[in-house]
Amino acid sequence: MSLVRIKDHLEAARAGGYAIPLIDVFEMQGARGTFDAIAEKQAPAIVAVYAHLIDLPDAEAFAAYLKMMAERVAAPVSVMLDHGENVEQCLKAISLGFTDVMYDGSKLPIAENVSKTLEVVAAARPLGIGVEAELGHVGNAADYADFAAKRQGFTDPESVVPFLEATGVDYLAVAFGTAHGVFKGDPQLDLELFKHIASLVDVPLVMHGGSGLTDEQFTAAIAAGVAKINVATNLVIGASKAMKKEAAGDAANLFTISTAARKAYKDGVGGVLELFGSAGKAAA
Ligand code: 13P
Repeated sequence: MSLVRIKDHLEAARAGGYAIPLIDVFEMQGARGTFDAIAEKQAPAIVAVYAHLIDLPDAEAFAAYLKMMAERVAAPVSVMLDHGENVEQCLKAISLGFTDVMYDGSKLPIAENVSKTLEVVAAARPLGIGVEAELGHVGNAADYADFAAKRQGFTDPESVVPFLEATGVDYLAVAFGTAHGVFKGDPQLDLELFKHIASLVDVPLVMHGGSGLTDEQFTAAIAAGVAKINVATNLVIGASKAMKKEAAGDAANLFTISTAARKAYKDGVGGVLELFGSAGKAAA
């Protein structure tokens, strides 16, 4: 077990009716808590950094830290770049030893999304690094009421097979009603659209915007075949609340507050691993 490319595990998840979470981490306490949960739950997982972090001067050190933690945990863990904004960020992640990268060309016209994704696949494939792309566009939850009603950005099923044939990506994010961040209004998933897409392709499919859905919505999406679910906002909010609560106490100090953040991530990620069914699947 240890640091792995996640594709085989996503295929096992799709076949086995569970999903593997991608957890975005931003600093070491959240990362520690995430690895604590992965170790305790014996779950395959993806620990990811958002694209803006890869441009920071300490990106190399943070990547080295995550890779070391992944190598030591007794469960398969991918270290992934999330939402690479351009080819250069993906190449940097590859050079830093990430096992998987996402190139997000979802705001581009499809032809350009294809050509840029192909550049990333060409660099990643010879090194055995997994590549995710996004087709359709998962928007921001703050604008949800506007775009969901108009089904803006929802993936056109007709475009999926040609996109996969043209790019050869290992797994694909599709848009069917989720959004990134805190929802304004209740999210509604178009699971019929998702199931239709899933019926057309073999590659694992990805749901972004995993915060703010009900447990029933997660369960239904996984039953429909979602193999990877990205989660960030809920964990950030949970850790922030825990830190504020701890900080309000008289005995609070740097160490107790950072421990509160670590524990909040551990509990939050542990809950996700149980809910998505990946707990106990380290050997699958
Ligand atoms: P949330 O922040 O809504 O959980 O979405 C995370 C995500 O999709 C990252 O790729």
